[in-house]
Order: sequence, then structure tokens, then C-alpha cells
Amino acid sequence: MRPKVLSYVAFLVFIITAQSLPSADAAAASELRQVYDVTGEKVLHNAPYYIGPVIWAKGGGIKLTDTKDKKKVCPFYVVQDPAEVNRGGHFNFLLNGKDNDEKYLLTSHTLSIDSGSPEGSCHKGGFWQIPDVEVKPPPHFVTTGGSFETAATCFQVMGYPKPTIPKVHSYMLQYCPTFCGAGPSGCFNVSLIIDKGVRYLGYSGTAPFEFVFQKAK
Ligand SMILES: *[C@@H]1O[C@H](CO)[C@@H](O)[C@H](O)[C@H]1NC(C)=O
Repeated sequence: MRPKVLSYVAFLVFIITAQSLPSADAAAASELRQVYDVTGEKVLHNAPYYIGPVIWAKGGGIKLTDTKDKKKVCPFYVVQDPAEVNRGGHFNFLLNGKDNDEKYLLTSHTLSIDSGSPEGSCHKGGFWQIPDVEVKPPPHFVTTGGSFETAATCFQVMGYPKPTIPKVHSYMLQYCPTFCGAGPSGCFNVSLIIDKGVRYLGYSGTAPFEFVFQKAK
């Protein structure tokens, strides 16, 4: 019972804090929430995390691949590792705008997702992007090759509406280029797109990919 009571107290504190904010920011701020990892710890802003499915039985964590359809590609694609024992790569989530000195990550806030500097001969930018979302019909795969805080790299983390395991904090990603200044209005849910047996992250108009954060050591 004790953890339940504590989280209820935390929730009340959050409401009180949110209500005491200056009114100009209140509407936007009330939507913001802390992000928690699988162990229930707050997810740190701009720190390395693995992300993967809630139930690690349908494949492993998210990673980059330098190969698509048996050809080397640059920038890299963002895919799910087929083996559930694999955590995948780790990624840093960086809040955009004036909040880039925040200690913790927030939902409903535009951010850029950094892959670091992947090894190999591909030296394009390490930030995740969905290029040309308005130009071509879906699917639109997430690739690296983006820069910090641009429309093409404008994502946000949202709480998953109906978590598979209610006690585990799970999330989904949305791509919202217009929130960073350009592109079609609204947000695009990021899903797993299965293409020739490979599970890519991208936009295809299907159910969003539900994932959890796990701190990288
Ligand atoms: C995104 O996914 C959520 C949860 O499944 C859904 O409620 C919402 O309608 C989706 N949004 C779009 C624009 O498809």
C-alpha cells in the first residue's frame, strides 16, 4: 500500500504546484508531466537511456542500423532489435527551447533525440528526424541525420493512453514539425513499421509504439 499512498501524495503535490504557477504559463504547464523509467525513477533530461517495448518478448530495444534491404545506408534507420535479450542503443532526449537546462525530462514538450555519434563512416547529424513528411505518402521512417531543434527533428514524448501494464510508466513518441516552426499541422504518432521482417520506427498512421525508458549504465 505504501508506494500507492506516496504516489498519490506526489500527484497532489504536482497539482498544487501546477496551480500555483503564473497564469500565463498555467495552461501549457498543466499538460507537462514527469517521465519515469521502468524502475519508477524520474527520467533525466539529456542522459543516455535505452527505450524498448513494455514486454520484452516481442523483440528487444531500439537501435540504429546502417543497413536497409541489404544495402549500406547513410543516414541510419531507427529499428527494433529482433532479439529480446538486446537492449539496443542508448539515446539522449533533449528538451527544446529555454528548457534545455531542466534536470528531468517532461512529456508534451518538444524535444530532440540524440543518438550520439554513431561509429562508422556515416558522419551525418546524430539527431532523429522524419524528413519530407508532407511531400511523400507514408510510411515515413525515422532516420538519423538531423540537427538539434529543427522542424524535421521535432518530437515529443506522451504518456501512453492505455498502458499495457498499469503500474509501469509507458510512453509513445509523436512527431510534431509544426511545433518547431514548419511543416503540416498536428502531430504524427510514431509506430513500428514492419518492412521485409525488419521493425522500423516511423509514421504510417497505425497504432503508436508503446515503450519504456531504461537508464543506460
Ligand atoms: C495517436 O495515438 C493515440 C493513442 O492510440 C490516439 O488516441 C490518437 O488518435 C492518435 N493520433 C493520431 C493523430 O493518429
